[in-house]
Amino acid sequence: MDLGLADRVYVVGGGSRGLGFAVARALTEEGARVVLSGRNAASLASAVEALNDHRATGVVADSVDPASPERLVAAALDRWGRLDGALVNSGGPPIGSALDIPDDTWRGSFESVFLGAVRNARVISANLSEGGSLAFVLSTSVRVPIPGLDVSNGLRPGLAMLTKGLSVQLGGQGIRVNALLPGRIRTERTDLVDSGTAGSSSTAIPLGRIGEPAEFGRIAAFVLSPAASYLSGAMIPVDGAATQAY
Ligand SMILES: NC(=O)c1ccc[n+]([C@@H]2O[C@H](COP(=O)([O-])OP(=O)(O)OC[C@H]3O[C@@H](n4cnc5c(N)ncnc54)[C@H](OP(=O)(O)O)[C@@H]3O)[C@@H](O)[C@H]2O)c1
Repeated sequence: MDLGLADRVYVVGGGSRGLGFAVARALTEEGARVVLSGRNAASLASAVEALNDHRATGVVADSVDPASPERLVAAALDRWGRLDGALVNSGGPPIGSALDIPDDTWRGSFESVFLGAVRNARVISANLSEGGSLAFVLSTSVRVPIPGLDVSNGLRPGLAMLTKGLSVQLGGQGIRVNALLPGRIRTERTDLVDSGTAGSSSTAIPLGRIGEPAEFGRIAAFVLSPAASYLSGAMIPVDGAATQAY
């Protein structure tokens, strides 16, 4: 199947490492071009080099900075003259229980995880070519709370409803909006979460193992691609069947 990604252009948030980088790799392997974002310039430069520099460029951008989305859009338009979609993704929220997490941590997480995603969606959707596509990276906490990750449990479900709402508002312009709900995919973030919570055993995953970033990358690339042209407003778990809820 041809995903129709050749020469299409995507912004990939948090594209220097982990899930974002895996999505960037899958997109570029199918012929797309990507603008990667992240806070660390050296890490971004390594990612761009690993992807083959004529298909990728990096923009140092923090999701808490209100100016970031405009800079990402400008990078895509200046370099390649079009923008077809975005993986709306950034670093994960802090670990902890709502009984202990201080207000300032909630405020900071709202700025980064929630408002950062809203801003990206607002600015990027206004600049998309015909048939554009947004995919939010959320979490299975949209469906079932994760012990020890109450900021995620609190903020991600709101972003899921926002995804549904945007799919309705943008559908008339032919723009698709979906969300991906990773369960446990092997990244630096998973190591951090496991070390700060009780962790989770892969025996609780019906497929019997943690997921690999490339497996997430292929699904996200399909969702973003023109091949998924009638998929919108969907919450798509990528969790090896771990989430026991629709
Ligand atoms: N991996 C999983 O199994 C899993 C499961 C559920 C949900 N998720 C969610 O999926 C997202 C990606 O997870 P991951 O595992 O890929 O994490 P990761 O390995 O820690 O990678 C995070 C990426 O985001 C960038 N980033 C972090 N904070 C940022 C900020 N404030 N502004 C811009 N970029 C930022 C990082 O680069 P810099 O540090 O250089 O900025 C890096 O490129 C997170 O929101 C996470 O909570 C992951």
